[in-house]
Order: sequence, then C-alpha cells, then structure tokens
Amino acid sequence: MSVEAISRHPIPAGFENALVKPEDYARLYAESMNDPDGFWGREGKRLDWITPYSKVKNTDFTMGKVSIKWFEDGVLNVAVNCIDRHLPTRANQTAIIFEPDDPNQPARHISYAELSDKVNRFANVLLSQGVMRGDRVVIYLPMIPEAAYAMLACARIGAIHSVVFAGFSPDALANRINDSGAKVVITCDTAPRGGRRTPLKSNTDAALLHCSDKVRCLVVKHTGDQTTWIQGRDVDVLAQMEEVAPDCPPRPMNAEDPLFILYTSGSTGKPKGVVHTSGGYLCYAAMTHELVFDYHEGDVYWCTADVGWVTGHSYIVYGPLANGATTLMFEGVPSYPDAGRFWAVCEKHKVNQFYTAPTAIRSLMGQGPEWVEKYDLSSLRVLGTVGEPINPEAWVWYDHHVGKGRCPIVDTFWQTETGGHMITSLPGAIETKPGSATLPFFGVKPVVLDPSSAEVQEGNGVEGVLCFSDSWPGQMRTIWGDHPRFMETYFQQYPGNYFTGDGCRRDADGYYWITGRVDDVINVSGHRMGTAEVESALVAHEKVAEAAVVGYPHNLKGQGIYAYVTLMNGIEPTDELRKELEAWVRTEIGPIAKPDLIQWAPGLPKTRSGKIMRRILRKIAENDFGALGDTSTLSDPAVVDELIANRQNHG
Ligand code: WTA
Repeated sequence: MSVEAISRHPIPAGFENALVKPEDYARLYAESMNDPDGFWGREGKRLDWITPYSKVKNTDFTMGKVSIKWFEDGVLNVAVNCIDRHLPTRANQTAIIFEPDDPNQPARHISYAELSDKVNRFANVLLSQGVMRGDRVVIYLPMIPEAAYAMLACARIGAIHSVVFAGFSPDALANRINDSGAKVVITCDTAPRGGRRTPLKSNTDAALLHCSDKVRCLVVKHTGDQTTWIQGRDVDVLAQMEEVAPDCPPRPMNAEDPLFILYTSGSTGKPKGVVHTSGGYLCYAAMTHELVFDYHEGDVYWCTADVGWVTGHSYIVYGPLANGATTLMFEGVPSYPDAGRFWAVCEKHKVNQFYTAPTAIRSLMGQGPEWVEKYDLSSLRVLGTVGEPINPEAWVWYDHHVGKGRCPIVDTFWQTETGGHMITSLPGAIETKPGSATLPFFGVKPVVLDPSSAEVQEGNGVEGVLCFSDSWPGQMRTIWGDHPRFMETYFQQYPGNYFTGDGCRRDADGYYWITGRVDDVINVSGHRMGTAEVESALVAHEKVAEAAVVGYPHNLKGQGIYAYVTLMNGIEPTDELRKELEAWVRTEIGPIAKPDLIQWAPGLPKTRSGKIMRRILRKIAENDFGALGDTSTLSDPAVVDELIANRQNHG
C-alpha cells in the first residue's frame, strides 16, 4: 500500500462539540506561534497557582547556553493541582479505576477523596523516613494505584521521583538509584502480570547490594507473597500509612523545581536522566490530554502504557488527574487470560478514550477480529496510538474493527524528552491519514532539516530529520547532573534547534510522517533501547570479545534486536551459548533488551581506524545487501561477505 495513495479520513460524525473544531485549529496554532507569551500565559491558568507567574517564556536554544524556563516566578504544588482542587466538586467522582491482572478479582474505584487520603498518608510516610524537598525517590512498582500515590506523594512534599519500569533488572535498578542519588526506593512484594508473578522485592534486594546502605526500602505488600525482610532498612508502607497523620500540607514549589527524573536510552552511553519540572510540564500534560483525547467531563479514559514510561507519567497520572478525569490503570497484559482482554475491559468500564501502542494493535490483529467483535465497544469515542510509527494496515484494522469507523484515531508523536504530544491529530479538528501523525500541536514549531547540510527544507513534499526550532512548556530542562550532555545530545548537531533523533517527511498537504530513529536508538515494541546499552551488556559476558547491535524490521515489534557477537579466542559458538547470552542480557538490563537474533561474527566490519561500520551491519540485518554502499574504507572487506553468508534469517 503506497502511503501517498491513502486517502484522508474525514472527521467522523458526532464531533460537532469537540473542544477544538476545524476552524479553531489554524487560528489557535497561528496565535501560539505569533504570541507564545499571550497564548501560554492564558493556558498556564489551567493550573492553580499559589503565587501567579508574571513571566511566561524564557528559553534559549543557543548551543553552550541552552536554558529553558516557563512560568519561572510562579509557585504551585502539582499534587494540589491533581487532587485538592478537585475535592470541592468531585470528591466522590472516581479518579482511578484499577483493573487487576486477574479478571476474577474485583476492579477498584478510587474516588478523588480516597486518592487525597492515600496520597496525604503516603506523603507523611515519606516525611517520616526523612525524605525532604529535592530528595530523590526511586519508584519500582507495577501498575497498581500505589504507583500513582507514590508519585503524587513525592510531588506533595517536593521530592523528585524517578520511576523505574518494573520489567528492568536489579542491575538497571541499581544504576538508576545510584545515578539519581536516591534516598529511598519504593517497591512491592511481587507483581502479578499475565498470571505470573515478578519478584520485585527480591529484585530490589539484589539491586541494593550495589547501593549505599543508607537507602531505605519501602515495600507495598500487594500480593502478600513472602519476601525477605531486613529490619531497619525495609518499611511496610501500607501499615505505616495507617499510623501517620491523614493530612500532609503541600509544599509550595517553584514552577521550575524538578518534578521527576525519568531514565531513557540514547544513542551513546548509559541511559540519561531526563528532568521535567513542575509548572510547564503539568500545564502541557493537562492541555494535551484534554484536547488530543477530546476529554469531556465524566468520560472514562484508558491509556494502556506502564507508569514506568513517560506515557504513563503524562497520560495515566499527571495529565488526566490535573483535568479531574477518571483514568484507568490496568495491571495486566493484552493477551491474558485471552486476546480479548483489552476489549473486555473497554466494555466493562465503558471506556470512552482508548490509547495504546501500535505493537499491541499488531499483535491483537494477528489473533483475528473475532476477539474484538465479542464485546460491546459502543462507548469508545477516540482511539490513540503512541510509541512508534503505525503501519497503515494496523491503523485501518484499528479504525475498522475497534473504532467501527466512528472513532477518530489520534496518532501522537512525542518523546520522553518532550513531556507531551508534539505532532498529533485532534479528534474534532484534523482529518487523518493512516500512518501520519498529521500536524503540530499548539506552540510546537517543527522544522525538517537536511541531515548533512542542516539546511531547513522549506515548503511541502520534503524529507529530512525532525527538529523543533522553539521551546514548548513540556520540554525537558536538562539531563540529571549533566547539563553539558543535555546540550550536546539535543542542540549541538543542528544549532538553534532541538533535535529529536527521528527522520520525517512532510507531504504535499503539510502532514508529517515520522520515519523512525536516525540514530543508534531502536524502538522495540514501542520501548526505546540504546544499541550501546545492549552491546555493553553483551561484552560484559566473559566469553564475548566484541558485540555490535542494530535494529531490523520485525512484524510485531516494529523493530527487533539483532546482535553480532565476536567470541573470545577459543570459545565455540553453540546453541547453549546463544541461550546463555540471551539470559545474560535479560539479567543485565531486562527482558525487553533480549536480542531477537544473535549472529556469531568472527570479525566485524571496521574502518582502518577501528570504528565499527554500523551502517553496513544494519543493511545486512535488514536483508538489504544491494545497498551496502562504499566498503572500500574497510580494513578487511572480506568480513562483509562472511557476515552476509551467515546472516540470521528472519523471513
Ligand atoms: C518514537 C514515547 C512515530 C519516536 C512517547 C520517538 C513515534 C520515540 C511515535 C520516543 C509516533 C513515539 N509515530 N514514532 N506516534 N511516538 N515515536 O521516549 O522514534 O519512549 O523518538 O517516548 O518513539 O520514545 P519514548
């Protein structure tokens, strides 16, 4: 299916009362470009401020002095904005619907009043453990309400949280605890998922062997499974919550005080701690949540992401709760107990907005439409996708079988770094094209640059790398503890612009099509993975001399992980060793980093100066040997023929 041949999908009927109407989009977008101070000065009022801001935007993208500040003299508290201010009108409204992994367990409806009580108590437990304003708290929890309580409790007392995805290994957890200098880690006993249980407490015990012995461990007894218990270090949070006072006064915070650190993979080195601050981030998360999903009072909204990723931060917790919404948290997986689970949950809770990843859609599509058709999905109004480019086939299936052609699909392009949606359609305002993220959100200024000359590609029908040439309130402010790295990573390559790392095309209508990462980051099932991280895990194995990792097209995952491994002299490549290396990477990083294919590579293509030619390895992994390009600079061109002859088949 040629993308150009795909027609526009008009806005379905029933969106006449959408929050943004077709005639509004261009007008508001122009205003956001021409008068950012006026536009954002007004939008900032979505939030309740203790001291109102007098300055709106103060940002500089100049290399060497990059500085990003929004609402800089405003004072607010994020937890108050997500909870307290809703209490007068919606104390009894459901804030969080918790749908457990096991469909036979009852769902829980947590009202704003109950959320308030839990968060206040949780905050008092943190205070009782000596956590103070500006201290870091690592949260290693699955998709349970306590994850949201913990995040909001940090926000209430001005502590900075760093959520670590519960699928990460003890080593990955330890690295994040150490890099952030956390005082406390919050975990639970075990985490049910797809009928199995992950031992999070024992993972945390293993991680803490590599951390300062001052780090306290707060444990949520979620399943009641037995765990080891270290007196003096481990704290039973739920029991403590009963003991402490029910009220915790919110700490007034500056708009630019950090709210959280979230580690994400880059093209080089270890994961970076992306720092988001309080005022701009919350304003942006709230506004995009409301407008992109066309969220109306009383709607039930469900984002299937995990709180361990940025999508869970902005679109399960902060955006929806700032808007006083009802947000669903799902503990399980799409395939348990069967491939109908997503749709069963949509029917059961009468979900109005449903937001998921293309990889989930593709895998459910493979199970056949009968799983969808069993359920009443008439409550659905808006469908969303995020995490990777969606292939038109999956888009059309989603539209037809899930949305029944009456739900607009919002394909939301954004990143951990951007805090919220950047290029996305709006349900009542923008016509869609399957596979295109469509148009920029308000205040977002995309530019397409030639990758080598850095020249701006003006007009439509152009292709290049995607940058943003001006700031927006949700933008990350720095890399934790390393502002120079922040500037080098995002502002050095294309001076004056924030560089996304993605390629993109702007078509004849001015619509944006994200073509995927142009750096050494791969996107596996919507999870970001740095090839360098997987490589360093592999070479940490005693039998591995060298490793090079690239992505290759994968039917379900979008991209798969292809590893070329050179073994130490005298080590025999065997199937056992292959399994051993797979298991090794799982323990070093986590299951999401496990290579899909390992090719034994007696030699790797290198330049005469010893640099691995990753471009060639990528082409071989992609089955694209016709386009290997210039191999004359290789120190040993024969290596390439050997690699091609022994490549791993993936159809
Ligand atoms: C990719 C996830 C195409 C992109 C919110 C980006 C997408 C990376 C889309 C960020 C989309 C995300 N279409 N590609 N709608 N959404 N991406 O930081 O490559 O986990 O740079 O944030 O995912 O991944 P991250």
